Amino acid sequence: MHDAPEMAPYARHVFLCTGVYCDPLGQAEQLYRLLGRLLGDLGAYDNPLRVKRGKTPCLGVCYNGPLLVVYPDGIWYHSVDEPLLRRILDEHLRGGKPVSEAVFHRLGGPSAPTSFCSAGGSTAQ
Ligand code: FES
Repeated sequence: MHDAPEMAPYARHVFLCTGVYCDPLGQAEQLYRLLGRLLGDLGAYDNPLRVKRGKTPCLGVCYNGPLLVVYPDGIWYHSVDEPLLRRILDEHLRGGKPVSEAVFHRLGGPSAPTSFCSAGGSTAQ
């Protein structure tokens, strides 16, 4: 058996859906790259408040994207564009206050949209 990997410290993990059902215009890949550039010190491996980022082909919602979810907060955003991504970074990830008008679901709270994912091969449901 191999040694278990070590995890650098982090505080949050952001997932951006790059699936075609919620992002038919293909904007999420560009947002993912931009997020990497904008994180700055929040992306540093030695920062205990580090924000890890990942992209996924589906988050099990499949419309009104691009969709972005922040864990462990369990805050889900819809219709993410560059201005909103910048606000999420400044107000939520740095300031600790979610951008409420763009939140459509909070883990443990009521959810607005009904899931009808047809993407198949989802990795996060
Ligand atoms: S394709 Fe984005 S949530 Fe399913």
